[in-house]
Amino acid sequence: MARGELMKKLLASYGRDEEFRAVAEQIISEEEKKNNVVLARSLRKTLENPSKPTRPKALAPLIPFPEAAGDFIERIEPVHSRQDIVLSRDNVRVFAGLLSEFRSGEQIRRRGLAVRSKLLFCGPPGCGKTLCAEIFAAEVGLPLYIVKLDRLISSYLGETATNIRKLFEFARKQPCVLFFDEFDALARARDDAGEHNELRRVVNSLLIFIDRIKPAGFLIAATNLDRSLDPAVWRRFEEVVWFDRPDDKMIREYLGLKFKNVILGFDPSEHIASLAGFSFAEIERVCVQAIKAAIVKRQKDVRADDFEQALADERRRRRDHSRLENRS
Ligand SMILES: Nc1ncnc2c1ncn2[C@@H]1O[C@H](COP(=O)(O)OP(=O)(O)O)[C@@H](O)[C@H]1O
Ligand SMILES: [Mg+2]
Repeated sequence: MARGELMKKLLASYGRDEEFRAVAEQIISEEEKKNNVVLARSLRKTLENPSKPTRPKALAPLIPFPEAAGDFIERIEPVHSRQDIVLSRDNVRVFAGLLSEFRSGEQIRRRGLAVRSKLLFCGPPGCGKTLCAEIFAAEVGLPLYIVKLDRLISSYLGETATNIRKLFEFARKQPCVLFFDEFDALARARDDAGEHNELRRVVNSLLIFIDRIKPAGFLIAATNLDRSLDPAVWRRFEEVVWFDRPDDKMIREYLGLKFKNVILGFDPSEHIASLAGFSFAEIERVCVQAIKAAIVKRQKDVRADDFEQALADERRRRRDHSRLENRS
């Protein structure tokens, strides 16, 4: 079998020991067939004596997610790592604290204390809430499941109560990071429900579950709203983390990250001031558009005018967007 196919099979078997072994054996025997004796021998040795993981990983077999819940929950494979995110100093400290608490979980619980495991991420769109949930899951070595709240809520007729119960049963047993993106949808749904009693009941039972659950891993909810969020929702979380728009220092760091792999014909730090008030996602779009402009023009380097044009486009986009918002 072609090497690429084998690699794909190997990755797909992640978490299933038997299958993983079988594919690994297949790779080794392909190498033997190709006469790559040294590589084959070393692969076999590694397979027989895998090095011990340095930190707790999700070694427990994954609990299969109930079929019915597949519609409103999705497992995400992390592709980003710590180097890909720019965090404020405060947040670096908060996450270091959460990580070390998680790693000393057993000792903490033995003393009758609880490990913080229900987190609320707040801040404007495009400032890293989802990205951070992904990287956090990778850091603690737990699988990440995204709950599609809109689907869960809109499926309220009939099955929802059962689905919510399944969801939390799962979160209680399966060590994982359960991520409720766009959590404000919940508060909104409750407000919109008005006299719609069933919807109201569904939202309330979700909130009660969040209150009661002691997750085997973490429960993270993300919202674009700030303190205007209902206090009844607010107090259910043991830690609140703010993701604000980047300050000058963070913009500088982010530009360094985004232009890491290209040749620059200008100094992006001269543009920091003009990016004030932009979200990371907006700055990213400016950088990507500038790089693409240079590629299209067959330039070796990204130049100031590429960046300035991309910045002007982003401004236009923002302006049009706010115009639309004001109209609605
Ligand atoms: N703090 C950050 N550091 C690095 N990149 C970021 C950051 N925040 C946002 N981004 C970029 O913007 C994209 C969208 O961010 P996301 O995490 O989805 O924002 P949010 O969930 O807060 O709306 C990310 O995929 C990433 O490319
Ligand atoms: Mg998000």
